This record gives sequence, C-alpha cells and structure tokens, in this order.
Amino acid sequence: MSSLKIGVIGAGVIGRSIAEAVLGAGLPVTLVDVSEAARTASRALIETSLKAARLFGLPNPSLPRTDQILANLTVTHDYADLADVDIVIESVPEQWEAKRDAYVELERACKDSCLYVANPSVFPIAKIAALTHRADRVVGVHFMNPVPMKKTVEAIVNPAVSAQASRRLFDFLDRIGMRAIVVKDAPGFVSNRIMMPVVNDAAQLVEDQVATAHDVDAIFRECFAHKMGPLEMADLIGLDTVLYSLLRLYEELGGDRYQPCRNLVEKVESGKLGRKTGEGFFVYR
Ligand SMILES: NC(=O)c1ccc[n+]([C@@H]2O[C@H](COP(=O)([O-])OP(=O)(O)OC[C@H]3O[C@@H](n4cnc5c(N)ncnc54)[C@H](O)[C@@H]3O)[C@@H](O)[C@H]2O)c1
Repeated sequence: MSSLKIGVIGAGVIGRSIAEAVLGAGLPVTLVDVSEAARTASRALIETSLKAARLFGLPNPSLPRTDQILANLTVTHDYADLADVDIVIESVPEQWEAKRDAYVELERACKDSCLYVANPSVFPIAKIAALTHRADRVVGVHFMNPVPMKKTVEAIVNPAVSAQASRRLFDFLDRIGMRAIVVKDAPGFVSNRIMMPVVNDAAQLVEDQVATAHDVDAIFRECFAHKMGPLEMADLIGLDTVLYSLLRLYEELGGDRYQPCRNLVEKVESGKLGRKTGEGFFVYR
C-alpha cells in the first residue's frame, strides 16, 4: 500500500484539494489538467494551503515539511504520465463532454489494473463507468471541499464492481484518513440531492428580495448552527459547478426544484463564480 501512486484528473477547486489531501498522507500524486493556467495556479495554491495547515497544526500536526510533500507532486498536461498510477481520481467539470474526453484519455493512458475513482457531484457512477470498458474497476467517491479538512466522503460501489476493486477503494480511503459513508448510486447521491436545491432556494430568496445573501446565511449559522450558510458554501464550491449540478439534477430527475434560478445563472454568465474568481454571492478581495 505504501508504494501506491495516485493520479488526479482536473486541477480545479476540488481536484487540487484532493491532491493536497493525498500528498498529506504521504502518497505521490500526478495531477493532470488541460489548462496551463489551472496547472500553474494549482501548485501555488496547494503550497499555500499546506503552509497554512502546517502553521495552524491542521489537519495533522506531524505533517512533513511542505517542500518534502511537494516533491511528491507532478503537475502535467500529459495523460501519458499516468502510465504507472494505481488509482486515478477524476475531477473534471460536471459536463458530459468533459467527462467523456477524460475517460477516453484515461483508457488510453492507464494500465489495465488501474482503479478509477469518479468524483462527480451528480452524474451517476454507472453512467460514467459505461464510458469505459472496465465497469468492474470504476467506483464513486464524492469528496467534500476542502478535502484535507473534511474527513467523511460518500462512496458508491455498484454491483458491477469486483470485490478486489472495492477492497482497494476502502484500503485507499483508510490510508488517506477518510471515513466512507456508502450510499446507492443515484443522481446527486445524498449530499447534493439535498444541498443543491437548498442553494437554489437560497439564491431565489435573494432574487425575490426576501432577504440579503448575508441574512439568508446568518439564519443558517445563527438559527440552525450550521458552520456556513448555503450561499457561502456555494461560493466555496464554485457557482459554475453549482449551476452544472442543478442542470444535471434537472436532466436526471426533472422537477422545478432543480431548475436553476435567474440570480444564479446571471452570476455565472457574468463570471462571478465565487471564491475562485473573487466574487460570487459575497466578495473575497
Ligand atoms: N467544487 C467542489 O466543491 C466539488 C466537490 C465534489 C465534487 N465536485 C465535482 O468535481 C468535478 C470538478 O469540479 P471542480 O469544482 O474542481 O471544477 P473546476 O472547474 O474548478 O475544475 C475542473 C478542472 O478540470 C480541468 N479539465 C477540464 N477538462 C479536462 C480534461 N479532459 N482533462 C483534464 N482536465 C480537464 C479544467 O481545466 C479545470 O481546471 C465536477 O464533477 C464537480 O461536480 C466538485
């Protein structure tokens, strides 16, 4: 297990956070992204986050030095660099073309025994597995953001998955200190099936001027004792990812509650994607 090599596809909000958590557990990571800007930003952001974690003793006070951890990170555009990875975690955008392109490349590049871990917000894992010729080695893990701090994940293991692949998944999650809650394969699983419509409703309330974004979130924090309100959480996830997730829920399940409200669509259209662009429902500059 200690010689495991991990690939992460997509160096965006969640991919680089997954890479950081895996690196923190002492495993080497090859991080692949088609965008040069994302590749450059990811290394710097992982470094900043590791330094902050070390400074505050979180999540692990005995974390090795940042430069030692970063020596285990390879950032590349080239899927061929995944030839010897044992487990690959896919985190490209919640859009079908992006998923399809990524799995075509993965099937070309990875060795036969490689375990594929899909990390979608909504797409069912079986649908993603059908993009490959190895449904017995495609499992789902829905990681939570920021990954080094959120030690519980949803895990999806369909009946087509082999017992060996399932064991490898749970050994890996154990190795990186994650507790898995196993759920059935359904659009949005549990977390996003509940949270995405809540975010949509919260955005609609702001659009209807029932309350400001600040007050909607304050009600969740102060009345329900949530650590974070739904709009701050949406900004952390990325409003484009929230929008894509609602669209995917609408396609998969139908129903007005998944139809994205105008407020959310307009924010994404104007490039206000949340923390990643410095502004969403709140401003982060
Ligand atoms: N943001 C979250 O909190 C969160 C949490 C759990 C799951 N997810 C899911 O993870 C996936 C990624 O979400 P994100 O928020 O990181 O998105 P993001 O837009 O921040 O990052 C996606 C990255 O993938 C890259 N990419 C696109 N196509 C690619 C390809 N074919 N090969 C390699 N790289 C490619 C993009 O350049 C981008 O850097 C989505 O399916 C999302 O629903 C997101």
